[in-house]
Amino acid sequence: MNRSLRPCLSLPRHCRVRRIPARRWLVTDANADNYITVLGDKYPKDSKTNITSAIMDKLERKLHLQPSHPIGILRSMIETHYPGFTALSNFSPVVTPAMNFDDLSFPLDHPGRSLTDSYYINSDHMLRTHTSAHEVETFAKGIRQWLLTADVYRRDEIDGSHYPVFHQMEGARIFHDNPNGIKDLEEDNARLSAHLAKSNIVIEDVPHVTSTNPAQVSHNPKHAELVALNLKLSLNSLILDLFGGRAGAGEGEPLRVRWIEAYFPFTSPSYEVEVFFGGKWLEILGCGVVLQSTLDKANVPNSIGWAFGLGLERIAMILYSIPDIRLFWSQDPRFSSQFTPGQINTFKPFSRYPACYKDVSFWLPDKALHENDFCDLVRDAAGDFAEDVKLVDAFTHPKTGRSSQCFRINYRSMDR
Ligand code: PHE
Repeated sequence: MNRSLRPCLSLPRHCRVRRIPARRWLVTDANADNYITVLGDKYPKDSKTNITSAIMDKLERKLHLQPSHPIGILRSMIETHYPGFTALSNFSPVVTPAMNFDDLSFPLDHPGRSLTDSYYINSDHMLRTHTSAHEVETFAKGIRQWLLTADVYRRDEIDGSHYPVFHQMEGARIFHDNPNGIKDLEEDNARLSAHLAKSNIVIEDVPHVTSTNPAQVSHNPKHAELVALNLKLSLNSLILDLFGGRAGAGEGEPLRVRWIEAYFPFTSPSYEVEVFFGGKWLEILGCGVVLQSTLDKANVPNSIGWAFGLGLERIAMILYSIPDIRLFWSQDPRFSSQFTPGQINTFKPFSRYPACYKDVSFWLPDKALHENDFCDLVRDAAGDFAEDVKLVDAFTHPKTGRSSQCFRINYRSMDR
């Protein structure tokens, strides 16, 4: 972390600040030498190293493997919904930029690659930003239908629904692109359509393939349509299983699901899915027909299939009525004792502590400061006490041209 980001001690005009002891702004031992140890492995640091100690603390928690944690409970419920799929959940969060981006055809100028969006250990290693980072290696193992759950890391702002670590579940299924494979696909589509036809669900769909959301040139257009249909039917029935008949979907009302055309570098056609719950449309996943180049990289010939990526916190917050994403990381028994494997119940809040606002302002370093850089400093210093951070003022000195910013940090403890 760049030390010039430490708050300047000569304070700009608009500030009304409590000084934070400078010591807390230095990034710990990680800066002490030229190496950084992540999950027991030592990596040389370089100009890309931007992982913080607050993030390092999260690497070992593995919430998705805890059987009585909402994230772990949701993982097993989804795994139960897809019998016959191989469940994987032990992949290291440390990946190469090639796995996270290049193998998935991300363009070189994609914003996700930037230091302000992702955590890098060094130029050759980073924390995965999505579970899709493991698509190639999983298909390469010869597994043709699988679910992979993992913690993923993205630099972000601070508020009640954003957290730099969250959990995703990737699901994928490929069919043999030959008469037998296509017959399996058609039979599965018929089975799923019959199930959904007798269920209380209303689906707002979009065409499977359009000129703006095209089938891939190497695909037989009819097969691509059948795969896209299988993807939609498979996810509609999962969503029905998770959300159907629950309070929030609307008393006695059908469950409403809406499909939207989307873009991802590694699928075509691509979609996002939203569920109507608690009076609002909520986006819960992205998906699409796997790009042929991904399967080629994995050495899987003559196959065609789909993949999806679900945000588990998003879904758990809705289903359990968990109001703040920080709660998932709470080790307070008043949180953890509320959940039971296999069950979805309404979370009962145990803290109503007041918000506590503190403003901090500082001169900006010569190179610009990204808001995410400031948020990572706050997370390192304040941990989960920081509920949200907002830029409330900016000032440029008319004579010197120096600029300053003022951020308002809301500290609120969830448990004390
Ligand atoms: N990895 C994508 C994301 O994190 C979601 C996705 C997964 C999209 C699989 C398509 C296929 O947003």
